[in-house]
Amino acid sequence: MSKAKKLEGKVAIITGGASGIGEATARLFAELGARAVVIADIQPEKGESVAESIGRHRCSYVHCDITDEEQVKSVVDWTAATYGGVDVVYCNAGTVAGGLAQTVLDLDLKQFDRVMRVNTRGTAACVKQAALKMVELGKGGAIVCTASATAAHAGPNLTDYIMSKCAVVALMRAASLQLGVHGIRVNSVSPGLVVTPLAATIGLHSAADVEGMFGEFTSLKGLELVADHVAEAVAFLASDEAAFVTGHNLTVDGGLQCLPFMAK
Ligand SMILES: NC(=O)c1ccc[n+]([C@@H]2O[C@H](COP(=O)([O-])OP(=O)(O)OC[C@H]3O[C@@H](n4cnc5c(N)ncnc54)[C@H](O)[C@@H]3O)[C@@H](O)[C@H]2O)c1
Repeated sequence: MSKAKKLEGKVAIITGGASGIGEATARLFAELGARAVVIADIQPEKGESVAESIGRHRCSYVHCDITDEEQVKSVVDWTAATYGGVDVVYCNAGTVAGGLAQTVLDLDLKQFDRVMRVNTRGTAACVKQAALKMVELGKGGAIVCTASATAAHAGPNLTDYIMSKCAVVALMRAASLQLGVHGIRVNSVSPGLVVTPLAATIGLHSAADVEGMFGEFTSLKGLELVADHVAEAVAFLASDEAAFVTGHNLTVDGGLQCLPFMAK
């Protein structure tokens, strides 16, 4: 199978597809031959503009707040009815308590609730509605979630965010076990730091900022992690190249998960 045809004919939904990692993935899915890419997001201007630039013949924007299960169901139903199926759902939308340290000692529980509501509850609603539709259609499918490299580490801050992403990995594992019988594969990607609007809300605006915060912890040098790197990993998990891959959390973090246990 040539790379260009990896997602040939697939119908995909991408939550949070109006920006950052989701946007890069929407563009890549279209390049890789997806028949339809539906961007489900809460930023109409950005979402419509991404859909327009990809091409209306294969990309649409649908307003969908993932914290509202009815809106999630509605975008899944609309996609199946409009394009005759749902092959891939990329549950990627997420948020962070911007500007707040969120250490255990200063945890703002209002922000905690908001982060968990989007990242954990919202992602669960997306996985649930994607799975219900795939089971109903009886053709299997691929669900990919965005977790985070931070989920495998103790965090000096962002406690709520890290907790929310640990829960996404747990959700992915449970769903992969429960949905395999229906031919549905469920995996996640765990990116390191990527400069996006979300990263900017916690003070990361440039590759230099990322290098300053993460550089000493990653083994891979000479390369900046960008949204396209994550999109490639998602496309692999979404494609038939990963036909026997399920329950896997694919880190895209330049070696962050392989921290040494002592200095040389
Ligand atoms: N940027 C990073 O360093 C990084 C690292 C690891 C994981 N992530 C995760 O990657 C995912 C994408 O983030 P990004 O960095 O591309 O940020 P981004 O801000 O560029 O994109 C996030 C998108 O999610 C959408 N969104 C937020 N809340 C939503 C809701 N309730 N319903 C629907 N859409 C909603 C936003 O409108 C936005 O378009 C998130 O889950 C984030 O936690 C990001």
